[in-house]
Amino acid sequence: MDQSTHPPIQTVGVIGAGTMGRGIAHVLLGHGYSVLLTDTSPGALAAATRSITAGLARDVEKGRLTAEAKEKAFESLQPSSDLAGMVSADFIIEAAPENVDLKADIFRRLEPLARPEVIFASNTSSISITRLASATSRAGRFCGLHFFNPVPVMKLVEVVAGMETLPETLAKASSLASSLGKTPIQVNDFPGFVSNRVLMPMINEAVYAVMEGVADVQSVDAVMKLGMNHPMGPLELADLIGLDVCLDILKALYEGFHDPKYRASPLLEKMVHAGRLGRKSGRGFYNYCPTTQTE
Ligand code: CAA
Repeated sequence: MDQSTHPPIQTVGVIGAGTMGRGIAHVLLGHGYSVLLTDTSPGALAAATRSITAGLARDVEKGRLTAEAKEKAFESLQPSSDLAGMVSADFIIEAAPENVDLKADIFRRLEPLARPEVIFASNTSSISITRLASATSRAGRFCGLHFFNPVPVMKLVEVVAGMETLPETLAKASSLASSLGKTPIQVNDFPGFVSNRVLMPMINEAVYAVMEGVADVQSVDAVMKLGMNHPMGPLELADLIGLDVCLDILKALYEGFHDPKYRASPLLEKMVHAGRLGRKSGRGFYNYCPTTQTE
């Protein structure tokens, strides 16, 4: 089927109701799309629904959405723990945890469910798009669509071309991102794409600086905020992203390029082993538990 004859995208499937999936769903709903949100965990779906509801209410308070549009958006969200509903999706964005086997398995199960012309996009931050696409029989209609945290705030979407991705797939994915008020930037499929290839070495170097006693956590962050005008210091940002996610991305860069310059700081590894994952676990470089606040 000629892609130019396809009906416009109305219903988007979002797989994974974690931080990124719920942020993507929130932005889609706020821009008039219907969303099929799936996750195997009913708890994650319930938490995502609460967070999306609160986010849309905030959009009304801030004058970004009318009360009527908010009501329509609420009605356009269909949470489900079953992938079968994806049969009615016009475009599918996977935002499951960063595990190649898990993601490939999701795409393998999606393949017979989704209509053949539907584009599959992965929000992966570090896994090869070409590799994920090979789990499907639609590598031409497969791309990366990499959003940034917090999704409702960050303007960028990296649109990643795998080795077999067709130009019309990139055009359609970019146009979806633009319709959400985002700026799509097309990049090729290399480890870390552009964003994490540049960001993660900076975060890693900040961790090395703390490990080697060059300065403490607050001072390293203050240098980058006050000296470089970054909205957050690299360690504060690592806590927002998740230290486990940062470590996984550094490992993907290290393994992808076989270059020691991407070697993760032993302190980062130690913190992940200790369960200090950043905001989501209550403790990372900073402490987010008010009752045990020591930093
Ligand atoms: N979810 C949704 N909205 C959020 C939010 C969150 N987690 N955190 C903040 N916001 C919103 C606030 O509600 C507020 O919006 P409105 O008032 O307009 O409703 C707006 O962001 C500004 O928030 P604040 O005034 O509280 O705080 P701030 O001005 O300090 O901004 C920030 C907070 C936007 C997070 C800013 O510090 C920032 O831009 N930090 C850098 C974030 C960044 O670099 N993200 C990319 C991470 S890398 C990644 O995601 C990809 C990857 O692969 C690892």
